[in-house]
Parts: sequence; structure tokens; C-alpha cells
Amino acid sequence: MRALIAGNWKMNGLGEDAKALAEGLKGLAEGGQPACDLLVCPPFPYLGLVAQTLAGSRIAVGGQDCHGATSGAHTGDTAAPMLRDIGCTYVIVGHSERRADHGETDAQVRAKAEVALAAGLVPIVCVGETEKERNAEQTLAVIARQVKGSVPAGMEAGRLVVAYEPVWAIGTGRTATPADVVQVHAEIRRLLVGLVGEGSEKVRILYGGSVKPDNARELLSQANVDGALVGGASLDAESFWAIAESA
Ligand code: 13P
Repeated sequence: MRALIAGNWKMNGLGEDAKALAEGLKGLAEGGQPACDLLVCPPFPYLGLVAQTLAGSRIAVGGQDCHGATSGAHTGDTAAPMLRDIGCTYVIVGHSERRADHGETDAQVRAKAEVALAAGLVPIVCVGETEKERNAEQTLAVIARQVKGSVPAGMEAGRLVVAYEPVWAIGTGRTATPADVVQVHAEIRRLLVGLVGEGSEKVRILYGGSVKPDNARELLSQANVDGALVGGASLDAESFWAIAESA
């Protein structure tokens, strides 16, 4: 399966930083693109700017979130059709930072994934256990609950991405061991068979959590690891590129 390397810029940088990063990536892409799909998810105010800068390149642009309704009285929120309208093709939903900061539930995350699909976007549905849950040996139970609750059932497999991001590995420099990643990704694949049915093997399962140029190759070579969702290391064009080249 062709890997997807996605950069989640989170709430970092101003317009000039977003433009410089997008231009840096575009320049690297002109020298030849790695054999994977590439995606960047900038902060909302700079989505249009980045989409324009990357127009004509093969680097896709996505939102970091969308609302679970297609329009209406939701002050401060962003609708999936708006993201599609400005050139996005993907949207991250249910990131652990949104689950924690905004109390998003699995049902809300599923609604977001459904409106994203209806708007023609590919949702990247994030799941992952906290350190406390991991220490209590609850990892697989938490993942099962989140996948069953957040992934819309019976969806077109080619248009769905799931990201496993252990919360304790995000921004900490600690990554799950390859053995942990293999175990959790196999469990997600097994759950997807029941949820998605035929074609479930086509759903890309990304790993996220302190992916860096020096650990990417090992993580990306594990079974059922179909790409990476990169935070900190995606804020530097060269390091994001180095990760993409290891895919
Ligand atoms: P870091 O790569 O900074 O750990 O962030 C991972 C992440 O949360 C991507 O969505």
C-alpha cells in the first residue's frame, strides 16, 4: 500500500512561517517526490495560503478538525464543505488534543468523519491511549472502544485513514516500541474488518507520536504501518522530507 506521510502543524507559527514552510516543501517536491502520498495540515487561518502555495504540487492540504454538522449556528467552528471549497482533500478528526481540550467524544468524532466523507474529504480518525490507560494495561480495550465509536461503519475503505497516536508519545520524544505498534495496528486492522467489511485491508493505518527522521524508517517498516502522522518534525521542511523519504 502506498504510504501517507501527513504533517500536523497544530497551532504553530504565523502566516510568514506557514508560507515559508509550504514553499520549502514545494521546492523539495520539485526535485522529485518520494514514493508516498504527502499531506500537510496547517492552522485554519493559513489553509488558503498554504493551499495556494502548494497548488500544482502533489502535496495535499488538510484541516486539523471540522464540525459534525455541514453548516449552521456554530460560532468559531469550521465545516467540512468549507475545507473542501478551499482546496483541502483530508481532515484530521478526533486528535487526542481535541478530545482532551474540547472534550470530544467518540460519537462526535464519528459525526465529524461522516460529514467529512459526505463533503468529499478523507477523514483521518485518530485514536490512542493515555499513559495511565497504558500502565493499567488498557491499551487494546481503549483502542477498541475508540475505533468502534469513532469510525463510521460500512464506509468506503479507500477513503478512510485511521491514525494510532499513543497520547504519551506525542511531543515527548518517546515512541511506542515497534512491537507495541505492530500489536495495536494489528488490532485496529482486525476491528476494521468488522466495521468496514470488504476492502478493509485498504484502510491506511498511520502511526503518530514523536516520529522523527531517525526513527521513521524502523516504525514505517512494521506490519500494518501505512504511514505517519507527524507533529513537531513536520514544522521543518527538511526533516518532514527525510521522514517521507524513509517511507
Ligand atoms: P509529535 O510528532 O510532535 O509527537 O506529534 C504527533 C501528533 O500529535 C501528530 O498529530
